[in-house]
Amino acid sequence: MASPIELVPFTVRTDEAFAGVERVMRECGDYYQLVQGHAADRAEAEEFFHFDVPGVPPENARAYGIHAGGQLVGLASLLLGWKRPGQSMIGFLAIGAPHRGKGYARAAYDALEAVARASPHGTSLRIGIVETNDPAFAFWHRLGFVETGERRALDEYVADVILLEKTLDG
Ligand SMILES: CC(C)(COP(=O)(O)OP(=O)(O)OC[C@H]1O[C@@H](n2cnc3c(N)ncnc32)[C@H](O)[C@@H]1OP(=O)(O)O)[C@@H](O)C(=O)NCCC(=O)NCCS
Repeated sequence: MASPIELVPFTVRTDEAFAGVERVMRECGDYYQLVQGHAADRAEAEEFFHFDVPGVPPENARAYGIHAGGQLVGLASLLLGWKRPGQSMIGFLAIGAPHRGKGYARAAYDALEAVARASPHGTSLRIGIVETNDPAFAFWHRLGFVETGERRALDEYVADVILLEKTLDG
């Protein structure tokens, strides 16, 4: 079956693209409240376009718009090559509240997994979930991710980040 979404890389930061990112972040107000305790600000949208990760070449730090029915409905980011050889990391995956429950996040995940598998960094995928983001755990478990036992304390979040991983065999 054809995917209901298209994963479109953000390559140029146009005003229109920036406004779209800000809109989706507003539509994900529930998420920002749970993990940061406040709404996403302009800096959050700026960071979505320019995120430098030490040790990851810029071309392997990818930001995508998730499009469905001709409109931007969600955001995703992916780091190809992360800590261990063969491993990639999903930085973010979110669907605006009006568009949830339609299979868009699962389809976007499948597309991200395909990008990782097509690269030299496709033997496992990781995701970090802030412990207060309770609904997200059920979603990632459903997609086959399991807790690694690792947790990190990061300043920008109200609680620890819990690491989950999925091995991409087969
Ligand atoms: C989590 C999130 C991405 C799910 O998006 P969505 O488009 O509603 O998800 P889908 O419709 O693609 O659902 C995919 C599967 O996950 C399940 N699922 C989705 N949200 C769920 C939840 N809160 N609890 C339990 N299961 C859930 C669905 O039932 C579905 O299962 P199925 O495909 O086996 O039928 C969305 O709620 C969101 O953007 N939340 C805010 C951001 C966030 O927390 N992101 C994750 C951390 S980076």
